[in-house]
Amino acid sequence: HRHLTGIYGLQPHEILFLLDEAEQWITLNRATTKHDDRLSGLTLINAFFENSTRTLLSFEIAGKRLGADVVNMAVGQSSVKKGETLIDTAVTLNAMRADMIVIRHQSSGAVQLIADKVDCPVLNAGDGRHEHPTQALLDALTIRRRKGRIGGLTVAICGDILHSRVARSNILALTALGAEVRVVAPPTLMPTAIERLGAIPFHDFDKGIEGADVVMMLRLQNERMDGAYLPSPREFHALYGLTMERLERAAPDALVMHPGPMNRGVEITSEVADHPDRSAITEQVEMGVAVRMACLDVLTRKRRGVEGWA
Ligand code: CP
Repeated sequence: HRHLTGIYGLQPHEILFLLDEAEQWITLNRATTKHDDRLSGLTLINAFFENSTRTLLSFEIAGKRLGADVVNMAVGQSSVKKGETLIDTAVTLNAMRADMIVIRHQSSGAVQLIADKVDCPVLNAGDGRHEHPTQALLDALTIRRRKGRIGGLTVAICGDILHSRVARSNILALTALGAEVRVVAPPTLMPTAIERLGAIPFHDFDKGIEGADVVMMLRLQNERMDGAYLPSPREFHALYGLTMERLERAAPDALVMHPGPMNRGVEITSEVADHPDRSAITEQVEMGVAVRMACLDVLTRKRRGVEGWA
């Protein structure tokens, strides 16, 4: 079986295949009755060691709409609190014969560690500052539906790039699909050698979003600052906050995105976030359910004896 630990290692045609597969689920999700039983009899375990609203609920909804038995591990009430290791936790979930395990963890690389220990597909729901592959897939799907293409677009990802797994997965996915990706951050929140991932770095926000087709805003990842320089919300907003006035510098029909959760008034104003034409933020959430349905379906095809990608 294959896992989905990151965008790294996926071929462009595999990314496009997952986006194409997700399209059918958008249609199903907009219907009154939202059911397809192809994962009936399979067990999905969601193990989230970090907080989540969108990713956890959309994986739960995705599994249920495809007919799987979905179990959410309550990490706060689990034996993790008694000192059980990550590996022992993974081996325990595996012994219960899970058919899919979705993991979010605060440590980069933790999901791969678990993937190496279990007998079923593992999906990364965000590990430390490493990757958040389903977020990048749902962002790519949102862009493709709104702009009609990804290749040839200029996408500016702005804010705390250093601590962002969303930025990393998006750079990998969008450059693989032919977009020009700019990253815009203060020097203290910009990873060194980001060019090696294929992104073009900017420190000046206004220059970075000049003519961009898509402006993707990120929040300050306060939980991962490790005592590093932390700008005050006011200071950050003044330099790197997206306002309607600033958005004028981007392309005339530029799309505004944010993975959530937002800190309104810090990296983005409510006027921009709630803009009826320009903001795609709630559409991103909708695409998240469809993309996760596609990933659960495709990754379990081999175990269900169905021809497919994995
Ligand atoms: N975008 C995202 O991962 O949101 P959650 O942390 O709410 O899952």
